[in-house]
Amino acid sequence: MKNVILDCDPGVDDALAILLALNSDNVGIEGITTVHGNTTLDQTTKNALRVLDYFGRLDIPVAAGASNPLLCEVHNAENVHGKDGLGDVSNIVPYSTRREIETPAHQYIIDRVSSGAVKTIVATGALTNIALAFDNNPEVMNTLDELVIMGGAFRHPGNVSPVAEANFYADPEAADYVLAQDVKKIIIPLDVTHQVILTPELVKSIPDNRSGIFVKSIVKRYQNFYMNVWALKGNPLHDPSAIGYVINPDFLALEQFQANVETLGKHTRGMMIVEQRAGLAGINAKPNAYIATAVKAKEFMDYFISSVSKA
Ligand code: BDR
Ligand code: CA
Repeated sequence: MKNVILDCDPGVDDALAILLALNSDNVGIEGITTVHGNTTLDQTTKNALRVLDYFGRLDIPVAAGASNPLLCEVHNAENVHGKDGLGDVSNIVPYSTRREIETPAHQYIIDRVSSGAVKTIVATGALTNIALAFDNNPEVMNTLDELVIMGGAFRHPGNVSPVAEANFYADPEAADYVLAQDVKKIIIPLDVTHQVILTPELVKSIPDNRSGIFVKSIVKRYQNFYMNVWALKGNPLHDPSAIGYVINPDFLALEQFQANVETLGKHTRGMMIVEQRAGLAGINAKPNAYIATAVKAKEFMDYFISSVSKA
């Protein structure tokens, strides 16, 4: 079992990622750290707590992190995830009376990595907390086995601009800084998450148990958004794909590249720039990341449905 910290901005698909982790024997959640992104930090923190309460996991601590990107203005996505960031279903997933712990997210991350309790971090929001953790203590952070990041668009269009994906766009300076670190990084971009589509038919096939009711209620609005705006057959499972990688790396195929994030471009800010010319004479681009370039979509979707049908 891999013990992970999930650094996230719940967020409908972040909440599905939490659920997938809770229902898996291959991954344990040491703690959840929250960041600005899909909605405000205050709300992503409340959402993490209410998801854990809903599933009776009061033992998992939540640490709140950055309310703003390192340098730029905050960019939320309430149009995608609902006013409360979780599909506006507080009648079904009520608010918690618990609070986050006092330690700020980046310090909590450093402490748990330093203690040896955590060797894997899964980041499914803006990379602000992760950048702060590396900036504060690179020695400890570089002892991680792996940092799994949902973010970026490689050969696929972006989702907030023609070229930028939301998590990298939300804090391009943090994303670029994190990609420059030595730790092993696994990037799960839109290229693969847009192949893993949860359709209304699949949602209907989930029984009305606790996990099923959770999925059915939070996903409704999010799914409509992707069907209406993106003309997809359902909603992509962005963040669950990152947890899916930890549960079973065979779901994804990885290739090594050098990847950086544009911080300056007028039209390209937040874009993941991937060096694909490394085979050409004279180009010496040292790979710094593994990028998921293919996914066993049917296998992963079958796994997702069986996991959320369990209990
Ligand atoms: C990513 O952006 C967020 O809105 C989602 O939660 C996911 O992490 C997809 O681009
Ligand atoms: Ca997210």
